[in-house]
Amino acid sequence: MSERNIDPSTHGITKMPRHVAIIMDGNGRWARQRGWLRLKGHQEGARAVKRTLELSYKLGVRHLTLFAFSAQNWSRPKPEVQGLMALLGEYLRTEQAELMRRGIRFRTIGDVTKLPENLQREILDLQQRTASNDRMDLIVALSYGGREDLVHAARAVAADAIAGRIKVEDIDIEAISARLYTADIPDPDLMIRTSGEMRISNFMLWQLAYSELYITEVLWPDFSEDDYIDALRVFGGRERRFGLTGEQVGGGGERER
Ligand code: FPP
Repeated sequence: MSERNIDPSTHGITKMPRHVAIIMDGNGRWARQRGWLRLKGHQEGARAVKRTLELSYKLGVRHLTLFAFSAQNWSRPKPEVQGLMALLGEYLRTEQAELMRRGIRFRTIGDVTKLPENLQREILDLQQRTASNDRMDLIVALSYGGREDLVHAARAVAADAIAGRIKVEDIDIEAISARLYTADIPDPDLMIRTSGEMRISNFMLWQLAYSELYITEVLWPDFSEDDYIDALRVFGGRERRFGLTGEQVGGGGERER
């Protein structure tokens, strides 16, 4: 068996999501519980990123999106922001060989022009090097916000309308989707949030319209392979209806949505 193929059914996973998106929350609390600086929580969080990427790859998840830095996170204390930027740079440098070996394409969503220039260069470099990898996408949300994504798409569609490239009456769901940062990526099937908060926190507001949500109390640095498998098992047991009835999708459910 190649290392790519862990059979999900051997872990009781009956259905695999194509796209998993994760709000990696709880790094600060994890560090505080130990009397450590928040940055230590982020460092440990980066280890959880590696674990999660590896298992996603082995189980055959096609797209993994990680919310690493929000458009709002710029307002955090400067040392934390600088520490996170340094950690991201380190991650890009140390993971490059692994991404190439496994055929994983690296991409970002969000306004990366706000990132420090050296980090922007490293991101661009990694994107170019991994551009033709086609086994899996690792999508890192950086300086990302769901509302900002929609504003960005609205500006693009308005510019196209003014330039005569699209008629106002042709602006539809596909036209907006095609102008989001996630243009050529399918919507997440499963969104996992760690640390127990019952919020979306401005993450992929448009794209999560029909995603299954899974919220665990586990803090992100503690998020283990078993925790991930638990989430995937729960996903496998969910009936997705996309606004149809249970009978229509063949599950026989009685609730309306
Ligand atoms: C939220 O926890 C987490 C972040 C704002 C940063 C996430 C970054 C990483 C996991 C590490 C680096 C990422 C990559 C892709 C290498 P929080 O700080 O808000 O936690 P709290 O709610 O407990 O304070």
